[in-house]
Amino acid sequence: MASLVLYLSATVLFAQSTVAANCSKAPIYIDIHKRAVNNSPVFQYGSFIGLGTPAQNQSLWPSLQQNHTSLALDTYCKGNTTLKNCERSTGGFFRPRDSTSFVESQDFQTLDEAQEGLSGFFGQETLRLYTHYFETDGASETLLENSTIVVAESGSITPERVGLGSSSTVLQDLSARDIIAGKTYSLYIGQGFDRAGGAVNGSNVFGGYDSGRFTGVPNKYPMNIANLNPMSVRIKDVVITGSTDNANVSLFDNTVFADMETRPEDFEAQITTEQFPFSLPYQITQNFIQHLNAEEDNTWGDNSLKLKNAFNGTLSIVLEDGFTITLPPEVLMNASNITPIQSRNKSSTKPFYLGTAFLGQVYLMADYGTNNFFLAPAVQKNNIVMPVTFCPKSTPVAYEHPKQSSWQKQGLIGAVIGGVIGGLGVLAASYCIWITWMRKKDERNLKRELQRNSQMKMEHMDVEDGRPKFDPPPQQLNAAKAMFWRKNKPGLTF
Ligand SMILES: *[C@@H]1O[C@H](CO)[C@@H](O)[C@H](O)[C@H]1NC(C)=O
Ligand SMILES: *[C@@H]1O[C@H](CO)[C@@H](O)[C@H](O)[C@H]1NC(C)=O
Ligand SMILES: *[C@@H]1O[C@H](CO)[C@@H](O)[C@H](O)[C@H]1NC(C)=O
Ligand SMILES: *[C@@H]1O[C@H](CO)[C@@H](O)[C@H](O)[C@H]1NC(C)=O
Ligand SMILES: *[C@@H]1O[C@H](CO)[C@@H](O)[C@H](O)[C@H]1NC(C)=O
Ligand SMILES: *[C@@H]1O[C@H](CO)[C@@H](O)[C@H](O)[C@H]1NC(C)=O
Ligand SMILES: *[C@@H]1O[C@H](CO)[C@@H](O)[C@H](O)[C@H]1NC(C)=O
Ligand SMILES: *[C@@H]1O[C@H](CO)[C@@H](O)[C@H](O)[C@H]1NC(C)=O
Ligand SMILES: *[C@@H]1O[C@H](CO)[C@@H](O)[C@H](O)[C@H]1NC(C)=O
Ligand SMILES: *[C@@H]1O[C@H](CO)[C@@H](O)[C@H](O)[C@H]1NC(C)=O
Repeated sequence: MASLVLYLSATVLFAQSTVAANCSKAPIYIDIHKRAVNNSPVFQYGSFIGLGTPAQNQSLWPSLQQNHTSLALDTYCKGNTTLKNCERSTGGFFRPRDSTSFVESQDFQTLDEAQEGLSGFFGQETLRLYTHYFETDGASETLLENSTIVVAESGSITPERVGLGSSSTVLQDLSARDIIAGKTYSLYIGQGFDRAGGAVNGSNVFGGYDSGRFTGVPNKYPMNIANLNPMSVRIKDVVITGSTDNANVSLFDNTVFADMETRPEDFEAQITTEQFPFSLPYQITQNFIQHLNAEEDNTWGDNSLKLKNAFNGTLSIVLEDGFTITLPPEVLMNASNITPIQSRNKSSTKPFYLGTAFLGQVYLMADYGTNNFFLAPAVQKNNIVMPVTFCPKSTPVAYEHPKQSSWQKQGLIGAVIGGVIGGLGVLAASYCIWITWMRKKDERNLKRELQRNSQMKMEHMDVEDGRPKFDPPPQQLNAAKAMFWRKNKPGLTF
């Protein structure tokens, strides 16, 4: 069976209430994956953003606590920097002297008093936010001029970050200059970085969200802006499920874990990208160690626990409202038996964390206008990339796949066999390109890109050989909310 992708054009209008903000502003989609970055010999994982004039391209790691966007000076790895494997882990390097648009800001008062592990100087610089869907194609860029950045001279952490804390300068500038609809932001961090050991790439959407990236009705939570990572949730249970017996053991169950006299209270944990593993309360961590026979390990420098014996089960985090996020077996324990649960000292007063192991399973959508955020299960593979505007105060709506029956009505069912979306075994598969991003391309270009992309991004999808016919996409369309799908007319064949 040939592996190719079926592209359908669809016209779906997203009913969205237009509140005070200008919700016809298209969002800015920036993907997260490994790529060549300035002055580094290796591909690095992060958000595709260029700095300065001419562009020095970087892979910036999204930080939910840092407010400034930071870059590594080309001498970052010299001197007293303690970042491990520094030359290959910064996300790129930045040389202000090579940029004609860089202006140093003297005496600037930092918005990141609480950020440890970085020191540097401030300046104003042009950020080039790149949007590209097709690996081999050029990117379109959104310029954000004269935005304040930090150039890190030394430190102990990955210095190149997009600051998305509650005073994020990027969101503030984009929104104040009317480039996006408001201070809204969405993140899927992906699993394509070394610690996660996966292949799925992530994305950022400024002023929007990718409606193809999550399923169901998103769950809403208030931010706790007293926390450094304001996106915090309360956890009421942690459950380990065996794969053979399907048996559930709650790490909160004082009848199973006799050290505990009573069932523990729920606790607050901060969602963070500063670390991969979870940091859970001491007693819950002890119960995990006891139940799965875990031991201390520091292979990754993050104190993640290691299991003595392989375990092929799952771990579920149950939030206060019942929303449950399950780490699949390959995340709960990698090939070297290392888990994403950090050891915790009894006397530690550090916050509890849900790290990027958690964000690999969920889509996060933040509304800094109202200080609320949403979580929904992430669609990890074969997703439809469909960025839509996230109007402040609104609730994101997941893209609905066309029902199978409606495909039958279109006479298309024979064309799509065995497509799997999100591993759920859904039969029909479609890939819709949001037309706004394509409006500058002519049809031939589009056709070529689609074919190329079919090999690059959708290779897991098997589609029967018979090639369906489609309409060409509309030439010009103010399609802030539209995709393309014309039913009845024959057209472009590919
Ligand atoms: C809203 O944004 C759109 C697209 O940028 C623009 O055409 C329109 O004039 C804006 N409306 C208002 C009221 O600012
Ligand atoms: C992620 O992006 C990289 C390019 O950096 C690409 O090679 C890889 O195939 C992508 N992974 C998936 C699952 O699409
Ligand atoms: C970012 O700004 C918020 C709100 O002003 C502040 O509470 C937080 O501490 C800042 N982040 C850092 C890393 O300092
Ligand atoms: C940076 O990325 C942009 C967009 O893909 C590209 O046009 C440009 O050539 C890149 N610059 C360098 C120095 O690689
Ligand atoms: C950025 O700053 C430069 C010089 O300070 C100025 O000429 C330019 O107009 C500014 N651009 C914007 C968009 O503010
Ligand atoms: C590195 O040294 C500089 C001064 O030489 C100091 O300001 C900075 O805090 C030091 N950084 C670290 C991470 O120790
Ligand atoms: C598991 O972690 C170890 C840590 O050393 C790493 O070497 C190995 O590649 C990881 N395995 C997978 C499947 O991610
Ligand atoms: C464990 O919990 C899951 C989810 O609540 C449930 O589907 C399953 O039946 C439970 N297993 C047992 C053995 O009760
Ligand atoms: C883990 O369990 C699943 C379901 O029972 C099974 O399909 C899979 O082969 C098991 N994997 C390993 C490595 O034992
Ligand atoms: C626990 O304390 C020891 C000694 O102070 C320290 O080395 C270790 O990093 C701590 N572990 C964690 C997970 O913080």
